[in-house]
Amino acid sequence: MIKCIVCDAKYDLNDIIYTCNNCGSILEVLCEPDVSRDIFKCRKSTMWKYKEFMPVDPAKIVTLEEGGTPFCKCDKLGEKLGVELYVKVEGSNPTGSFKDRGMSVGITKAIELGVNTVGCASTGNTSASLAAYAARAGLRCIVLLPSGKVALGKLAQAMFHGAEVFSVRGNFDEALETITALALEGQLYLLNSVNPFRLEGQKSIGFEIVDDLGWKSPDRIILPVGNAGNISAIWKGVKEFHRAGFIEDLPMMTGIQAEGAAPIVRAIRENKEDIIPFENPETVATAIRIGAPVSAIKAIRAINESNGFAETVTDEEILSAQKLLARTEGIGVEPASAASIAGLIKLLENGEVDKNEQIVCVVTGHLLKDPNTAINACVEPVEVNANIEELSSIITRG
Ligand code: F0G
Repeated sequence: MIKCIVCDAKYDLNDIIYTCNNCGSILEVLCEPDVSRDIFKCRKSTMWKYKEFMPVDPAKIVTLEEGGTPFCKCDKLGEKLGVELYVKVEGSNPTGSFKDRGMSVGITKAIELGVNTVGCASTGNTSASLAAYAARAGLRCIVLLPSGKVALGKLAQAMFHGAEVFSVRGNFDEALETITALALEGQLYLLNSVNPFRLEGQKSIGFEIVDDLGWKSPDRIILPVGNAGNISAIWKGVKEFHRAGFIEDLPMMTGIQAEGAAPIVRAIRENKEDIIPFENPETVATAIRIGAPVSAIKAIRAINESNGFAETVTDEEILSAQKLLARTEGIGVEPASAASIAGLIKLLENGEVDKNEQIVCVVTGHLLKDPNTAINACVEPVEVNANIEELSSIITRG
């Protein structure tokens, strides 16, 4: 069943619906299987390990074996910061971001519904993922991207997998409004995270974190927030496992936004239940350059219900955390993903996060998604002749 999160109106799982007909709010899928966690034993480590919690026919899934991503204990960085730190590396998914989890369920649902065209607006990763899964399923794919603001790797992926890519004169929020209008006319099946099936896939990040910790919740999960689907999805996931009796406690959900695109942080600070959009969002972390997140209400609830927190970080803090993670732990992430590490550093400095906490930072996309930003942060290679004496004298100089 699909349910409105505000007025509780109910819809059939096969209704093509994105917002409530009754009150206009966003929706969620209800999924409460009566199973024991023993059934997960000995299953392959992909997100489909938890298939009973996915609202699609498991016999007909469209998958690239997403999920089952590395859960790295980061002792060096943890020691530096003075906390027990784990990093969930979502860049290891098939197209290099967590979006693949949502797309596997979303495209499976699209096939169940019998649609032939799918679409999304995107800051990049959603479009890369949708293009790949649509190709795998043989569906037509239409993608709207904010002109000039999509990192190179993501654009290459969307185009290379055969999506019809449009560069919109405007920002992500305007692109999303446009593609939503097309979807409501019935021209395509919308696979942005306003589609509640997307979040059903992404909730598996929460499943994996507590499974990786030996059926225990960490004290806190920190992640970047843009359109606000992922923090809502992870919270839904851990709550479902809690309700099923698989874990005893719940984590404090902590969302990090870029200073120039922080409507959710502002709402939390002002104790509001919904956001006032940022009209001109701006940040180097283009993935989260979003002013009017569609899942804001869910995200604000997740943060408040879990006794979590929301904080902003500057572009400088993001880029320095990106480099710190890459150089102390060997984990290469795109700028938006580094917002979680930058956020942790800031929250430890201002005392909001306790040093005794066990922390999981979710890093959402791979370093190679945004090669330009990475290259700009480095000095150019030294050009040398293929000559051992010359090279040796440079290396010994340090
Ligand atoms: N990190 C990365 C790398 C992202 O691509 C996104 C969102 C987020 C974090 C934020 O997640 O929107 O669920 O709060 N990217 C979307 C896109 C908007 O179009 O690729 P969120």
